[in-house]
Amino acid sequence: MEVIRGAEALRRLVDERRAAGDRIGFVPTMGALHAGHRSLLRRARGERETVVASIFVNPRQFGPDEDLDRYPRDEPADLAVCRAEGVDLVFAPPVEEVYPPGVALVEPDPGPVGELFEGAARPGHFRGVLTVVYRLLEVVGPCAAYFGEKDAQQLFLVRRMAAEHGLAVEVVACPTVREPDGLAASSRNAYLTPEEREQAGCLFLALAEAAELARKGETDAHVLVAAMAREVGAAPLARIDYAAVVDDATFLPIALVDRPARAIVAARFPSARLIDNLLLPPPGG
Ligand code: PAJ
Repeated sequence: MEVIRGAEALRRLVDERRAAGDRIGFVPTMGALHAGHRSLLRRARGERETVVASIFVNPRQFGPDEDLDRYPRDEPADLAVCRAEGVDLVFAPPVEEVYPPGVALVEPDPGPVGELFEGAARPGHFRGVLTVVYRLLEVVGPCAAYFGEKDAQQLFLVRRMAAEHGLAVEVVACPTVREPDGLAASSRNAYLTPEEREQAGCLFLALAEAAELARKGETDAHVLVAAMAREVGAAPLARIDYAAVVDDATFLPIALVDRPARAIVAARFPSARLIDNLLLPPPGG
């Protein structure tokens, strides 16, 4: 496994691999690698001859009052994970390799969906995400890029950006990896106090409740949303940020669940803000 700091050096190495006939799998991350990231790396390893992972805490996707400074960073541990998962090339650049001073950046427009939910709670977040993903894809070149369903709105916007900009990337969606109580694995789970951690399962309980109602034939999104709010409300330390049902094809809220739909939820605990989502089953499914 090689660790590369420079964008041009990475591009050269990946080009060599491509010239040798390898297909490239790319897994962008912000490090603090956990079981969710590992599942992406494993999937890429199984499907592609060369696997590239990036570890870069992207300042552009953090708001001024967010956790950029305390975001967990442990490069030696992350490199050990990458090695164990059979990654070939780790791109771990300093900021100036991703955003070279004086070079005009492509800042893809997240559009109206970028203003909703995570975008409403975190102004500018998705523009920052799309900017870094566009730049990383520019460096890596044609590839399959692996993203987690855990961040469903991000996945939706990355897919749309790839299509709109005609990028030579196949976006691969990977299922959410969860703890035994349903809590989605996340780097931010490390912020939770033991008491908060105990209650953090409420997000998944809320989604599971919505899924169960949908399976039983409930099609009124307001009923599903109310049930989710109730589940999150039952956790004394959680404050709900939003709960909604969106059309899985457009990520826009729907009132009637008459097509493939996704329940989404976000809640604030004193030490961390958590998000999760679940595709709703069809009635009787
Ligand atoms: P990060 O939060 O490190 O996540 C990297 C990738 O891992 C994302 O595609 C995310 O959806 C996926 N992931 C996280 N938790 C997961 C889980 N429990 N199950 C499955 N996949 C999971 O998302 C980002 O970084 C950044 O926004 C990034 C795309 C790297 C751009 O900076």
